[in-house]
Amino acid sequence: MRLEPGLALRIYFPTQSLSTRFMLTISLRSIVWLLWIKLMEIIKTDSLVKDYDLGKIKVRALDGVDIVIESGEFVAIMGPSGSGKSTLMHIIGCLDSPSEGEYYLDGLLVSQMERRKLAAVRNAKIGFVFQSFNLLPHLNVLKNVELPLMYAGMGSKERNRQARNILDSVGLSDRLRHKPSELSGGQRQRVAIARAIVNSPSILLADEPTGNLDSTSGGDILEIFGQLHRQGNTVIIVTHDPNVAERADRIIQIYDGKISDGDILG
Ligand SMILES: Nc1ncnc2c1ncn2[C@@H]1O[C@H](COP(=O)(O)OP(=O)(O)O)[C@@H](O)[C@H]1O
Ligand SMILES: [Mg+2]
Repeated sequence: MRLEPGLALRIYFPTQSLSTRFMLTISLRSIVWLLWIKLMEIIKTDSLVKDYDLGKIKVRALDGVDIVIESGEFVAIMGPSGSGKSTLMHIIGCLDSPSEGEYYLDGLLVSQMERRKLAAVRNAKIGFVFQSFNLLPHLNVLKNVELPLMYAGMGSKERNRQARNILDSVGLSDRLRHKPSELSGGQRQRVAIARAIVNSPSILLADEPTGNLDSTSGGDILEIFGQLHRQGNTVIIVTHDPNVAERADRIIQIYDGKISDGDILG
């Protein structure tokens, strides 16, 4: 059933004059609208600074980074080597904290959070894929993918079932008992993606995930990220690859630790 706007106003604000009702409705709408925008902002940074202290010299890797990324966006981060891309991704991914500035993840201020709490937030919300895969060499494929579920306290049967399902979805159900060294680069990266998404994080971060792969394997990996994005996840990829950037909703450019003004809309 649809309420006529005039009738709805009289039900909401029976005693006020028409102009007061009008003002109240406008204010209510603005509040709902602002709340909605806030809810959509899954990642928001305010003047992020990261300094690396190397004794006598200090490297300023991030120099006042302000970014807002909305839930469900597919963003590519691009910039020259040494411009601060990995540093930014590590902070966004709760693997590191900024020296100054604020970082809100899903409305939660995480920039000054202590390490254990930060790790818990990371485990619940974020999947991270590295250029060099970062798999544990002594564990087989299945065990590598089960790890985040083990940290989350899941029992072994359910863990096993969930890891198999995810590995199936990235086309690796015939490699469960292989060690990482017995796989190709593309397969290793698919294991790393399976590990990153096995506990259903809503944010997927990848730091040059196709950098060490041939173009065919890189294409397969991109297809998986595309699928995750279509399922409603937020995907952020650091890349030099124009094919990745082409698929993104938006490109964020970074130079010398600063976001360039020309944020390009894809
Ligand atoms: N752990 C570290 N210790 C000291 N300096 C670092 C460290 N990590 C990165 N840097 C420096 O910070 C700057 C940004 O590095 P990084 O974020 O890795 O850039 P990118 O990923 O864009 O290549 C570089 O000058 C790099 O040398
Ligand atoms: Mg890097």
